[in-house]
Amino acid sequence: MTTNKKTSPEELRSYRWLGKNDLRSFGHRSRLQQLGYGRDDWVGKPVIGIVNTWSDINACHGHLRSRAEDVKRGVYQAGGFPIELPAMSLAEPIVKPSTMMYRNFLAMECEEFLRSHPIDGAVLMGGCDKTTPGLIMGAISMGLPAIYVPAGPMLRGNWRGNALGSGSDAWKYWDEKRAGRIGDAEWNEIEGGIARSFGTCMVMGTAATMMAITEALGLSLPGASSIPAPDASHPRMCAAAGRRAVEMVWEDLTPDKILTPAAFDNAIRVHMALGGSTNAIIHVIAMARRAGVALNMQRFDEISRQVPVIANITPSGKYLMEDFYFAGGLRALMSEMKGMLDLNCITVTGRTLGENIADSKVHIPDVIHGLDKPLYPEGATVVLTGNLAPRGCVMKPAAAEERFLKHRGKAIAFENYDHMAREVERDDLDVTPDHILVLKNGGPKGAPGMPEWGQLPIPKKLIKAGVRDMLRISDARMSGTSYGACILHVAPESYVGGPLAFVHTGDEIEIDVAARKIHLHVGDEELSRRRAAWTPPPPHFLRGYGAMYSQHIGQADEGCDFDFLEGQARTAEPEIH
Ligand code: FES
Repeated sequence: MTTNKKTSPEELRSYRWLGKNDLRSFGHRSRLQQLGYGRDDWVGKPVIGIVNTWSDINACHGHLRSRAEDVKRGVYQAGGFPIELPAMSLAEPIVKPSTMMYRNFLAMECEEFLRSHPIDGAVLMGGCDKTTPGLIMGAISMGLPAIYVPAGPMLRGNWRGNALGSGSDAWKYWDEKRAGRIGDAEWNEIEGGIARSFGTCMVMGTAATMMAITEALGLSLPGASSIPAPDASHPRMCAAAGRRAVEMVWEDLTPDKILTPAAFDNAIRVHMALGGSTNAIIHVIAMARRAGVALNMQRFDEISRQVPVIANITPSGKYLMEDFYFAGGLRALMSEMKGMLDLNCITVTGRTLGENIADSKVHIPDVIHGLDKPLYPEGATVVLTGNLAPRGCVMKPAAAEERFLKHRGKAIAFENYDHMAREVERDDLDVTPDHILVLKNGGPKGAPGMPEWGQLPIPKKLIKAGVRDMLRISDARMSGTSYGACILHVAPESYVGGPLAFVHTGDEIEIDVAARKIHLHVGDEELSRRRAAWTPPPPHFLRGYGAMYSQHIGQADEGCDFDFLEGQARTAEPEIH
């Protein structure tokens, strides 16, 4: 790690484009003049690239177009020059086959945006699930000073006086509809009331989890991740981030000075205390590997044994992100668990995490519990291993019925999503609540893009009988807004010949969460016979990004990064001639 504080304009990276007295710089400057900026606007000033994931199709980021103006205001106030760069928006509910297929695309876009333009520091604007890790991964690899601006959660939903949580209540009421307990009229009212404002999902889903993790890592301003998107504090935070980005350039406060192993441990501890999304495991491992920090799934499991769930937020608890904000937000949660955190970690403020949370406290104890009164004593997200998942799989016990934490049952195996979707609607499906549903070909290569299929629907026959949870196993992911006894991210995935590919209907599977075990009760000889008879499925893509994705994507336990993007090796700066 090198410290290279800057004291003069000539030391700025952008000076290579804008400051020299040659023909190329003339060209660059004349084009800024063409945009209406005079020399005084940028000469000698840090240029701040605002990488903005706003788009018309992403309601979670609906406000980021105007919030970029607030960031610019802050950049100008601090003596910088802002340039807004539009990046891939990755609207979680819209993009198919899965936003996960494009997280690395956004990471590459962010990195190359910053590299190829005259930029000294960055403000990263995201929030909807994959945008946060995508932006952070790209910024880590580029290595310029960068600060993250979270979009913030939307306001809580409402239906006939009942609070509605993104995703979580959609799954709940969809099952009620399948069971015939509500009709089309009620369902249509819920559709209109579940997303009341711009902003991200307002439960502790992947978006809220990743925004909180990023703050805990030290990459955003204190308290930023908890501010509801429409709250007036949000544009004030955006302007403050713009001001801070300029100062960070002069201080040369680059991500490598912030993203230490201790910072990642802090982030994982916060993740566990929040009862955060299982998706975070994949993203945090990918971010850590970019930062040169050796992190694997076992570290998550070790920390999960030490940290209780203290945030009473859906889907593990009952409140929503707006309540969390009023209870004191992430700063209050971190202050409640400060004995478990390394408070010496440096953050984008230039101060330590301990200094950032020094004056915070919990205002509503039922939303943020004390460590002595946790919602769940340990194991928010656990990692299981065994012959069915040699490289691991994950589960969120806090969101599952307790009887499934130690269970042995017969498998019903589905070869792919369409097969599963047809079978679960059959009234004559031979299924009991003790069966274990197994979905194959939902992984990074197999689906492709590892979609959020892991919360397999409860078969209709059981839904009508009042069953609301059963064990489900897949190599897919699950929405952070989901709940249930779902075992996810089985690695290696079935599409590449992982043991999941060889599960047959009727095989017995045993789960023991306390022992962190998952076992397929099929003998080694029989498994070898099935493996020998197995034919790899044909490729999904013969051309384009999909073909590149399929060739280079890693497995879930590796963070699903592209093999050529991992690690800390720096790409050379572009020649300017
Ligand atoms: Fe954007 Fe959930 S859909 S955060």
